[in-house]
Amino acid sequence: MNKHKSVLLNEVLNEIVIQDDNPVFVVDSTLGSGGHSKAILEKVKNLHLFCFDIDQVAINRFLIYLKESNFTQQNDYLWEKDKQKIYVFNNNFTDVYTKLQELNIKKVKYLLADLGWAEDQKEYIQGLSFERLEDFLDMRLDKTHNQVTAFQIINYGSLKKLKQFFIEYGDLHREGDKLNQFIKLLGQKRLESNIKTVADLVNIIKVLNFRFKADQVSFCARVFQTLRIAVNMELENLRVLLNFLPSILLEIGSKAMIITFHSGEQKIIQQFKNSLLNKKTQLFTFHELIRPSVDELRNNISSRSAQLNVIERIK
Ligand SMILES: C[S@@+](CC[C@H](N)C(=O)[O-])C[C@H]1O[C@@H](n2cnc3c(N)ncnc32)[C@H](O)[C@@H]1O
Repeated sequence: MNKHKSVLLNEVLNEIVIQDDNPVFVVDSTLGSGGHSKAILEKVKNLHLFCFDIDQVAINRFLIYLKESNFTQQNDYLWEKDKQKIYVFNNNFTDVYTKLQELNIKKVKYLLADLGWAEDQKEYIQGLSFERLEDFLDMRLDKTHNQVTAFQIINYGSLKKLKQFFIEYGDLHREGDKLNQFIKLLGQKRLESNIKTVADLVNIIKVLNFRFKADQVSFCARVFQTLRIAVNMELENLRVLLNFLPSILLEIGSKAMIITFHSGEQKIIQQFKNSLLNKKTQLFTFHELIRPSVDELRNNISSRSAQLNVIERIK
């Protein structure tokens, strides 16, 4: 079970510069299948790597990898080999700042956030894929702390709020009429019985009578994307992460590398950029967005909407 192909891997690695013999401090705030982390381990021999993921399965898989790669466990979270220290936390990346403080780490050189979810999570997190019709509408990446499922949101959320979510998180504003019909239908259906499975939700979308199958699939994808973002509070979490960047990227040349997959995430980054521009002293610069190469787009369909934001400390 490791279907995930890391996105923009070389582009992320290129941003990491080794200047001297001192250890490089790197946070991988979205460990996932560990693709980026493993490549960073290959590149940076003198490394303190702090890995976070809300998904226990992803964490366990990485711990097995560390064991198999002959890292020695020092305590609950720390693994070591030669000049590499790996800290592994089954935590939300909103906890990065607090965790670093607890460890008395004042600053890091690089922080990576590869947002969203990994391909292999489709296999064991119910409701993530609209192709698995029998799945329960769960969608929680973090089953330990998050009690709210997509089932609860779609059945008990106010229709007004749901419409707002579909516009904001799913970019469904362009489908004005269809969206209104969908919301109306949803209201009727959930009075009759609970919308429990992926099939229940997909069947409502099918009633909307799209002229082209591709439009139906795209609408479906956006509905599922919206629910996943709402369930996992993805945009709220991203806001928290951006807000503590200035407190951990203290050195000139330190960088955050944030891979986004939809306009909602880019909007939050733009707001963060604007908030920094309003300050007297310009501490950070935003590099031009990096998109996957033609080769990557050809070989990895998950990369098609990916964009790498590099935010670099300049003062
Ligand atoms: C796109 S995958 C990362 C893939 C990884 N970079 C790789 O190369 O294998 C995103 C990962 O972030 C995790 N994730 C999503 N939101 C998170 C959050 N707020 N805090 C920590 N991890 C999160 C997901 O569980 C998933 O494993």
